[in-house]
Amino acid sequence: MEKTSLEHIVSLSKQRGFIYPSSEIYGGLSSSYDYGPLGVELKNNVKKAWWKAMVQMRGDVVGLDAAILMHPRVWEASGHLEGFSDPLVDCKKCKKRWRADHLLEDKGIEPDFRPGTWEKHNMVCPSCEGELTGVRNFNLMFKTFMGPLEDSANEIYLRPETCQGIYTNFVHVQQSMRRKLPFGIAQIGKSFRNEITPGNFTFRTREFEQMEQQYFVHPEGKGDIFEMWKELRMQWYKDLGIKEENLRFRDHRPDELAHYAKNATDIEYNYPGLGFKELAGIHDRGDWDLSRHQEFSGQDLTYFYQETGEKITPHIIETADGADRATLAFLADAYDERDGSDQSKHDKEVVLRFHKSLAPIKMAIFPLSKKEPLQKLAKEIQQKLWYNYMTQYDETGSIGKRYRRQDQIGTPYCVTVDFESLEDHRVTVRDRDTMEQERIAITDLPSFFTDAFSV
Ligand code: GAP
Repeated sequence: MEKTSLEHIVSLSKQRGFIYPSSEIYGGLSSSYDYGPLGVELKNNVKKAWWKAMVQMRGDVVGLDAAILMHPRVWEASGHLEGFSDPLVDCKKCKKRWRADHLLEDKGIEPDFRPGTWEKHNMVCPSCEGELTGVRNFNLMFKTFMGPLEDSANEIYLRPETCQGIYTNFVHVQQSMRRKLPFGIAQIGKSFRNEITPGNFTFRTREFEQMEQQYFVHPEGKGDIFEMWKELRMQWYKDLGIKEENLRFRDHRPDELAHYAKNATDIEYNYPGLGFKELAGIHDRGDWDLSRHQEFSGQDLTYFYQETGEKITPHIIETADGADRATLAFLADAYDERDGSDQSKHDKEVVLRFHKSLAPIKMAIFPLSKKEPLQKLAKEIQQKLWYNYMTQYDETGSIGKRYRRQDQIGTPYCVTVDFESLEDHRVTVRDRDTMEQERIAITDLPSFFTDAFSV
C-alpha cells in the first residue's frame, strides 16, 4: 500500500514552506510553482550534491553556465525547430487539447502515428467523449523577441534544454582547459517547454531546471561509457537515500527515441500516485550535435589526437537530470510516519527522513525555557554553527512539540540548552532517526557535526 499520495505531498509542501503555487494571490498560474524557504534549501542541496558528484569529485568533468538566450540558428542546427514537437489533438465539442500519445498510452496502446493509424483507434475526448481532431504536431519551444521590434527577424527562443550551450562552447572549453578526450562539461540551469499537458505538481512544468552533463568520447568503446554513466547516475540517487525499490531503469524503444538519440535509458522513480515515471535520462547522442553545429555554423568542431594524427567529431554520452523532479522524488521518498508519542495529540507523526546532506535545516537550537541566560547561550551556539550550517532557533512550545516540528521538516539534529548547560557547558543533542539523546560539550559541537555531516 502507498504511504502517501501526491495530493498529500502537495499540501505538506505548501503548509511547511517547501513549494507554493505561483502567483496565487491572482488565482495562480497553471503548473507554475515557487520554492519556499525550505524548498529553496532542499533544491539547492540537491544541486550542490549533483555538482559535487559530477564536477568537484571528478577530474574529467568541468562546469559551465551558459546563457538561456542563444542565437536562433542553434535551434535549427539542434533539430528543435523541426523536430521538438508533441502530437496534439483537440476535442471538437469541449475544445480541450490533449497529447495523442498520452491518450493512447492510457488505453494501453503503443503510440504510432504513421499515416492512417490514429484514426483506427476511434479515440474520444476523455473529458466529454466528444469527437477529436486529427493529430497535429505542436512545437514546444517558447518564442519571444529580442529588442524592441516584434518581427520575425528578431524572434528568439527560450532554451528547451541546457545542453546546447555546452555544445556551442565545446571548443572554448576544450582549448582553454586543455582537455583531452574523454571529458565532460556539466551545467545546471533553467529550461522552458510549452508543454501541452503539464501537471502532477512539479513533475511536469513549463519552466524547470535541468542538471545536464555531456561526456565527449571517441565512438569506439562508447557503449561501456554509456553503461558507466547509467550505473553512476542510478547510484547517486541510491546514495542520497532513495529506496532501491522505488527506482528502476527503462530503455527507450527505437520508435520513442528523441530526434538526437541513438540509444537512451531513463531512470524512473515510483512517484506517489503516478507510479514509475522518468526522473532522469542517459542518452547516446552520437555525433548528431557537434556535426550539426559544425554544418550550420561553418566552424570546425572536430577533435585532433596529436599522438595518432586522427581527427574525429566526438560522440556524446549525455546524463540529463531534472532538478525539480529530483527534488520531488527526494521529498516523496523521505516521507515517513511513526506512531505518535505519549505527549502527541496524533496517532501518527510525520517525519521527513532526508539524507543529512539534503535536509534543508541541519540543526535546530532550543533553549529549554525563555529565561534570558538560556536564550543567550542558545543564540550564541546558533551563531557559531550558522557559519557552516543552515540552522533554526525555536523557543516556543514544549521541547516535544519543537522536536515534532523539526521532524516534520526533516531536521537531522536538535540541540537543547537547559539550566545544567549553564553549569556544565554541555547540551543535549537529539537524533531525528534514532531519537536518541546525547550530552555533548558545547566546545565539541563543531567536531561532532563535522563527523555527523561527513556522509
Ligand atoms: N538534453 C536532454 C533532455 O533535455 P529530456 O529527457 O527531455 O532530455 C531531461 O529531459 C530531464 O529534464 C528529464 O528526465 C526530467 O527530469 C527533466 N524534465 C524534462 N521536461 C520537464 C518538465 N516539463 N518539467 C519538469 N522536468 C522536466
